[in-house]
Amino acid sequence: MAASLVVLTGAGISAESGLPTFRDANGLWEGHRFEEVASPGAFSRDPHLVHRFYNMRRAALDTVQPNAAHHALVKLEEAWPGDFLLVTQNVDDLHDRAGSRQLRHMHGELRHIQCLLCGTEGIPWAGDLGTESPCPLCGKAGGLRPDIVWFGEMPRFLSEIMARLGRAGLFISIGTSGVVYPAAGFVAIARDAGARTLEVNLAETGISHSFREHRIGPATEQVPALVEALLKVHAR
Ligand code: OAD
Repeated sequence: MAASLVVLTGAGISAESGLPTFRDANGLWEGHRFEEVASPGAFSRDPHLVHRFYNMRRAALDTVQPNAAHHALVKLEEAWPGDFLLVTQNVDDLHDRAGSRQLRHMHGELRHIQCLLCGTEGIPWAGDLGTESPCPLCGKAGGLRPDIVWFGEMPRFLSEIMARLGRAGLFISIGTSGVVYPAAGFVAIARDAGARTLEVNLAETGISHSFREHRIGPATEQVPALVEALLKVHAR
């Protein structure tokens, strides 16, 4: 039976599209640490600040396109002979726009919002969001927030992801620093399940030692080359 494949991506895969990563530069936004704007506490203390941060990031999506690495993962998904799951920590929509289908946004999505008043999640949203924006479903203002998993909140799709990792034959991690759990622990779960493990990154990370194989370099070069190599051996 063909190997079950799980691919995990992080901000590094979108860097060459023009979206900044979290930890590569100084990791600050207007003098705030990222963690200070990405938490439920920050939102209740200063919702205007948090909205401004996510509005800026949502607007940036209009200025960028999927790159060769996003496209190569679509090719891999289409040609892979076994199960395929792409788990992304990214809240941008570049995998979606490239055409990935078996895709799970474990940290939510910039182009979705939640209404805390009617309890609806995953409401599609374009443009800016503010404390006075009315909910497109219940019509009430004052209850909308980005549909993003903040620090202290539970990442999405974990039971499905854990099940896939538990039977993975191959686990590939691309462009993530391996600092934020639970995603940083996926390699250990896959490895313990007997999977081949491969990390693609510009540089060594704090969890590189957990991977058997490494490809060091920019995702737009390394991912297409890796996909070609995998499909030479595994294409259906
Ligand atoms: P980070 O900013 O922590 O790490 C980005 C990684 O990408 C680093 O290891 C870089 O070396 C690598 N990188 C940068 N440019 C690259 C390129 N062109 N090609 C290949 N690799 C490159 O971003 P994440 O690991 O995604 O969580 O961060 C994980 C989570 O931390 C995010 O999802 C976010 C943040 O807190 C939430 O929002 C909940």
